[in-house]
Amino acid sequence: MEGMESRDDEEAEAAAMRTMGSYGVAVRVVEEAAEEILLLWAIQQPASRRQNEFVRHSSLSLRLDACGHHLSILQSPSSMSTPGVTGAVMWDSGVVLGKFLEHAVDSGRLVLQGKRVVELGSGCGLVGCIAALLGADVILTDLPDRLRLLKKNVEDNVDEGNARGSARVSELTWGDELDAEFIEPSPPEFVLGSDVIYSEGAVKDLLFTLRQLSGCHTTIFLAGELRNDAVLEFFLEIAMEEFLVGHVDQTQWHPDYCSNRVALFVLVKKS
Ligand SMILES: C[S@@+](CC[C@H](N)C(=O)[O-])C[C@H]1O[C@@H](n2cnc3c(N)ncnc32)[C@H](O)[C@@H]1O
Repeated sequence: MEGMESRDDEEAEAAAMRTMGSYGVAVRVVEEAAEEILLLWAIQQPASRRQNEFVRHSSLSLRLDACGHHLSILQSPSSMSTPGVTGAVMWDSGVVLGKFLEHAVDSGRLVLQGKRVVELGSGCGLVGCIAALLGADVILTDLPDRLRLLKKNVEDNVDEGNARGSARVSELTWGDELDAEFIEPSPPEFVLGSDVIYSEGAVKDLLFTLRQLSGCHTTIFLAGELRNDAVLEFFLEIAMEEFLVGHVDQTQWHPDYCSNRVALFVLVKKS
C-alpha cells in the first residue's frame, strides 16, 4: 500500500510539471492562486530575507556583467521620493530575470536569437538590454515620462557592435489599445516583465495588455518581488482564467543570481 501511495504522489508531482511555450524545461504548473501564495511564502520566507541583494537604490548606476559585456545602467535615486514614480531604480527581480535569460540561453533551454520581444514596464531597461545582447529584437516600453532615462540606458548599453539583436524604446501604457508595431505582422514571441505586479490597481490593465500581446506562440516571463501576497494572489487568480501559469524553480535560474524574495513565472495563453 505504501509503495502505491508513493507512486501516486510521484505521478501527481509529474503531472503538475510541463514545458510551456518556447521554454524548453518543465516547470511546476500553478494550480490555484491562494495555494501558490501559501507555498511561496512558506518555502521562501521572503519577509525574513534581505531586500535588494543585487542592486543598491542609493547608487547612481547599476553595474553588472552580462553576455560578456560590462553593463552600466543609470538610476535616478532622487526620483524614488516622487509620489507615484517607480522604475527610476532597479530591483532584484530585474537582475534575476536578466541573468535567468542569459543562463537559459547559454544552457540551450531558450533561444532568443532573431525573436521578437516586448518588455513591459522596463524602468531603467536592464532586462530588455540583456535580451537584445542575447540576440532578440526588443521593444522596451514604459509610461511616457520614463522613456528618456530608458532610451539613454539602451543607447549606452546596446549597439550594433556588441548586440546580436536590437533594442528600441516605445511608449506602452497598460490597458490602452496597442499600437500595431507591437503585434504586427504577428504577436511577439516573448513578453518580459520584472516587478510589474506590485499594485492591485494596475493588475487588470497589465493583464489586458498581456492578453492583447499574446498569440498562440507567445511566451511570457514575469519576475516578481515577493512583497505583497494579496497583490500577487489577485494577479494569479485573474491571470489563470486565460493563461496557463508555471512557476520556474530557482534550480533553473542563474546560480549566482537567486533570491528568496523573488518569484519567476512563465505564462502562455490557454488554447
Ligand atoms: C517597480 S517598476 C519595475 C521596473 C523594472 N522592470 C525593474 O525591474 O526594475 C514598475 C515599472 O512599471 C511601469 N508602469 C507602472 N504602471 C504602468 C502602466 N500603467 N503602464 C505602463 N508601465 C507602467 C513603471 O513606470 C515602472 O517602470
